[in-house]
This record gives sequence, structure tokens and C-alpha cells, in this order.
Amino acid sequence: MCGIIGYIGPKNSVPFLIEGLKKLEYRGYDSAGLAVIEKGKVRRVRAVGKVAELERAAGQINPKGSCGLGHTRWATHGKPSEENSHPHTDCSGEIVVVHNGIIENFLKLKEHLQKLGHTFRSETDTETIAHLIEENLKHISAKTEEERFLSAVSRANAKLHGAFAYAVMWSKTPKQIIAVKHQSPLVVGLGKEANFLASDVPAFLKYTNRVLFLEDKQTVVLRSDGIELFDEKNHSIKPKITKISWDQKTAEKGGYAHFMLKEIYDQPQALEDTLRTVRNDFFRILKSKSEDLRKIKNIHLVACGTAYHAALIGKYYLENFAGVMVSVDLASEFKYRTVAPSKNTLCIAISQSGETADTLGALKKAKELGFKRWGICNVVGASLTRLCDHVFYTHCGPEISVASTKAFTSQLISLYALAILLGQACGHIHQSQFKKYYKELMTLPKALAETLKVENEIKSLSRKAYLANRFIFLGRNVNFPIALEGALKLKEISYASAEGFAAGEIKHGPISIIDKGTPVIVLMPADSLFDKMLSACQECRARGAFVVAITTPEGKEAAASVTDKQIIIPQMSAFLQPMLNIIPLQFFAYWVAKRLGRDIDQPRNLAKSVTVE
Ligand code: F6R
Repeated sequence: MCGIIGYIGPKNSVPFLIEGLKKLEYRGYDSAGLAVIEKGKVRRVRAVGKVAELERAAGQINPKGSCGLGHTRWATHGKPSEENSHPHTDCSGEIVVVHNGIIENFLKLKEHLQKLGHTFRSETDTETIAHLIEENLKHISAKTEEERFLSAVSRANAKLHGAFAYAVMWSKTPKQIIAVKHQSPLVVGLGKEANFLASDVPAFLKYTNRVLFLEDKQTVVLRSDGIELFDEKNHSIKPKITKISWDQKTAEKGGYAHFMLKEIYDQPQALEDTLRTVRNDFFRILKSKSEDLRKIKNIHLVACGTAYHAALIGKYYLENFAGVMVSVDLASEFKYRTVAPSKNTLCIAISQSGETADTLGALKKAKELGFKRWGICNVVGASLTRLCDHVFYTHCGPEISVASTKAFTSQLISLYALAILLGQACGHIHQSQFKKYYKELMTLPKALAETLKVENEIKSLSRKAYLANRFIFLGRNVNFPIALEGALKLKEISYASAEGFAAGEIKHGPISIIDKGTPVIVLMPADSLFDKMLSACQECRARGAFVVAITTPEGKEAAASVTDKQIIIPQMSAFLQPMLNIIPLQFFAYWVAKRLGRDIDQPRNLAKSVTVE
């Protein structure tokens, strides 16, 4: 996820670009850049770090131009560096591109363009677009340079695969910006005397609330006095203008009251993005390692907090699909305990930020022990990536809210994918089984989108429960860590006391804390352990608990006989079900905290990334 902004109008574009980028910083913040066309020449400024760094750099060289593009980056291809920051140019430096998303076939295109003599200066997929357009221009003649440029862009689009949105300027056509949308967001703002382009409305909402949300495969040409919209076949179409009624603050969160809620709703798209990485990168990396993979005898998973809960579920995946012995440690514990030396051992560290000090410490220890090291991480170029032999990126976009939601489900997908790929490489599962598991995995975003419909029911459930001083979550097998995660989510943002237990354990002690009215939320999809979960419900209800079942359609009737409330979500196979089961618990934490008036995105005493021990 990155942020794009464009301005074309009578004034200097730079202040508008900087202002817009600041509003888009939530989409990515590892580097930023802008370019304008000044007296027929492109002037470009780029800086590593936040938009404030770019502002400082731009202040020093003072570019001015009434047509400009800006970008704030969240690295996907190539580490955060000035060379990899957008905008990118072609060989001549006359064509400038900013881009959000992933060009899946960029390596092939890059190779082809290099053979034709193009010189690349970055590791990004984005730069390919600029060179492709440059190459096309060589073979196109038209009445005007504007027309020539537009057809060069349209020919480039026909060659690009993936999910992307990009905007491009050419110094020879300083009175237009061309932009394209395909599966990544892009919106046009129509002002009185200037027009804007951005990944999201807040970037220009101060200047106009008249917007055009581009549809996939559409191309738009922006001029200061108007816009022209084209479909995939280059037919001119009538733009459908919408009036936005959000205020600035609401707009930054995509209309949601908090980033946490936005990020819960981001999950179907985030999972699509992770799955795209699974298809492209995981296969490639693991294919090149299949010899080594077959030798792996033990796996240590290390992580903290929510990522640790993902690791706990990862153990079930890896032992089931790959047949390898797996141990799971809190990174802060792994660092200081005696870990038996062993051969052919792999340590996998899981971290959203890639900067958690405890996790980095665990990786350093794994290195000292001679273990191979892999990472599952969301931030390209983070410290964790430098301590690992291989990194599998979740690519679920920046997570702003302190309470982790979409990173968790993306980590689960990554672990599931690694487990089935490893299982196949080690011969633990057959090709036909692999195909079946893989196919079902690809259906997950749709099922998750369906699961999000429970929000209203959870909202009213929270009205009944939010004043309780203790909450209990129960699960078994892969849903036991989901119970732990449900409790963590609730305690970190509502400050209530919440605990997760393996349902079979409550009779060994925890049941004594259940009394009249204690909310007990039970994860009980209709699977092989369903009957055991029914017994756990009965045990809690007998002590006066208010029991809520999170179950699937088949379990509804039986659950109704032993629980006070049933929340029905879609059914998937047992190992994919946790990714759906967590959704009602994320909503529950959100709504309890909201009713209690807590600071949801920045709960007390917590930080998004814990870089100290
Ligand atoms: C909980 C949460 C924390 C993090 C933990 C690890 O919602 O966000 O528990 O999961 O601090 O952070 P990363 O994944 O960045 O290593």
C-alpha cells in the first residue's frame, strides 16, 4: 500500500502535493517523493523517511510547477532507499511515474526492456512502467504529443499484470496527467480551477468534495480545466461524479471512526494481497530451496503478542501438513532459555513490524545456535529481514492501530501456505492434497468478507456485556490460540480483565473464576470437537455464565440448547476456520472499548512497535 497524489492547476503544485502526502501517510511512510514539470523539464525530489523529510528536501531546492505528482511509499519491491523512492523515470528522465500496488510480471518486462537497451536505476516494479511507456512512444505517431502519450500509456496497460494504480506525466505534455486504475484505489477530485488525483479522498478534501472514484481498467486524463475518462478499450465515457459528505478526520480513516475498525474491514483485501505474494514469492523462494527443505527436522517459531498467537496456530499447521516437530516460544523467553542444540533446525520469526526487540533477540540467538532463519514480516527492509536467510512478506499494508488485526490474519495465511508448501516439498502431502488445500486457501478472502457481516450483531451483544469486569474466551485445537487472541484484543483496548483458555482445561482450575453473568465466548465451529465444546458450554452455564457461541450454520441448533446467544459465521475446513473465528472477537473488543470510551487506536501504556526489551 502506498499513497499517490497529483495536482494540475494554476498554482505551484508542491504545497498541494506535500499537504496531500501528509494525509496519505497512513498508507505508507518509509520514503516519499515528488516531481513537477518546471519550464518543460522534470524536477524531482525524493527522501527516505516520512513526508516531513521530503518537505525539508523540497524546501532546499524549491521546485515549482503547476503540474505535479507525489508519492509516499510502503516498500514492496526493493528496500526503502532514495533510489527506490517514487517518482521513477524512464531513461530520458522525461517520463515520471508514481505507482501503488504490484506489477506481477515486472521481472519479465524488465528483462525485455533491458535487452532493448533501457537502463534501470531502481529495484522497483514501478520503474518498468516508465520504460515501457518510453519504448511505446518510439513506435507511435499521432496528431499531437498528448494523443501520442495517451496511446503509449494505453499500450503499456495491455502488458501490465497485477493490482495497481499509477499516474504519469511527460515533460513534453505539461498540461496533462494520465492515471490508470486496476484493482488498487484511485480517486479524482474536481476543483474549481484545479484538479486532483489521489489514492484516497482526504488528500484533497480540503479543496473539493466533488470526486470521481475510478473503476478498474479505467484511464483518466487530468487537465486544469477538466478531465476525460476512458474505458479499457479507450472509448471515452461519462464520469460519474459523487459528492463526499465526510469531514476531514473521518475521511482519513476511509469513513470509519477508528483505524482499528478500518483495518478489520481491510482484511479481505489484505488477505488478497498476502495471497498474491504467496502465489508469486513463496513458491519461487521455496522452489529454489527444495533440497534444503527436505532436510528440515525441527522448527522453532518465535514471536510476541498477537504474532505469538499466530505462531501457536502455525504449529498445528506445520505439524499437520509438513509432519515436522515444531516448538513455539515467546521471543522474550526463547532468548533466555536453554535451547537444545540440534541439526537441520529452522527458526521462523513472525513479526508485523520486524522491529520488535525481543523477536530480533531471539533471531540472534538462533543464529548463534547455527539454526537457519526465516522471517514472516509485513515491513519491507525492517531489521528482522537482515537477520533472516529468507523473508516471506505478508504485504497486508501498513497497520496503524496499535491493536493488530489484519496483520494477524495475514500471518496465519502465510503460515498455512508455508506449511502446505513445505509438506509438499518434503513429500508429507500428495500433489492432489496440496492442490485441494491451496484451492480452498484462495477462497478465504470471500468467506472473510461474508464473516464481516456479523458486526451489527456483535455491536448489540457488546451492549449486554461491556460492563462485566471479567471475560473468558474458550477454544480447542487451532481455536485455542484464537481464544488467547480474543482475550488479548479485548484487554489491550478495553483495559478489562480477559483470559483465553483451552476448553478442556477449565475443569482443571479456571472454572472457579466463572460466576453469575460472566461473559464466556466459546469458539465452536461444527467440527470434530464440537461435542466437546457443547460440554464446556454446559459446564460454564451451570455456574451462571452468560455463554456466547461463535459457531457455523450446522452447529446453530445444538449450540442454541446450551448457550445464551449464537453468532453464526461461514464454515471452512478446520484449519482455515480460525481466520474467520477471529473476526467476531476483533469486533467484540472494538465495541466493548468503544462503549467504555477508550482510546481505541492508541490504548494507554502501549506502542505499535516495541523496540526495547
Ligand atoms: C497486539 C499487538 C502486539 C504485537 C506485538 C508484536 O494487538 O499488536 O501484541 O503483536 O507487540 O509486534 P510485531 O508483530 O510487530 O513484532
